[in-house]
Amino acid sequence: MRKNIVAGNWKMNMNLQETESLLGALKNTVKTDAGTTVIVTPPFTNLESAITSLKGSGIGVAAQNMHQNENGAFTGEISATMLKSVGVETVILGHSERRAYFGETDAKLAEKVNTALKHDMTVIFCFGEELEDRKSEKHFDIVEGQLKNGLFHISGDAWKNIVLAYEPVWAIGTGETASPEQAQEMHAFIRKTIATSFDDAIADNVSILYGGSVKPANAQEIFAKPDVDGGLIGGAALDAEGFAAIVSAF
Ligand code: 13P
Repeated sequence: MRKNIVAGNWKMNMNLQETESLLGALKNTVKTDAGTTVIVTPPFTNLESAITSLKGSGIGVAAQNMHQNENGAFTGEISATMLKSVGVETVILGHSERRAYFGETDAKLAEKVNTALKHDMTVIFCFGEELEDRKSEKHFDIVEGQLKNGLFHISGDAWKNIVLAYEPVWAIGTGETASPEQAQEMHAFIRKTIATSFDDAIADNVSILYGGSVKPANAQEIFAKPDVDGGLIGGAALDAEGFAAIVSAF
């Protein structure tokens, strides 16, 4: 079933003390009884304490990335079983910063998706075009390619563990948001692409989040679009009141 979801991607922000302080404020401000799934993604070092702190709060915890291998000589990396061992069941994969700065290709993301699904984790799969792609009107082709090459190898049954996050790179951290109409147009295209490659039920049931400069001031009009099921929030997720306002924007 399609769900409304608001997830905060904290990126490389918030040490342990800052995490505890932000989580305390979130527990006091975020409304979790209105049917919206609320998720935060602290850095790896603070996942365990976040799980403990948020127990019973209705706010879930996800990781920002994981390695595709089960274990081994991959200095500095974190595996699916490590995440699961501290209680993390959801992972963001394919964020544009991972693609741009850490060489994450569609092929590598396909492997990561497989590993996460093998461990019965939920994947928040990110994708989106760059400014040049949109200017040259290649944005639909780029998004279709990212989906087909990184994700569409999964089985129909595996879609119950997938959340999509359309994040146009030109709107991330820039203050420039895609208009609600641009978000709706792309989300409808994504659903149509899934319906063609899989079926209508899968396309209807998957939650598609929008990410890129979502703020309390613009969340409501973006979330009001029929094919937008919530947001993946960067900068505005680091402020408890702002994040709570975005959660309440449905
Ligand atoms: P901003 O909300 O800071 O633009 O970041 C969006 C994002 O990258 C979420 O993953």
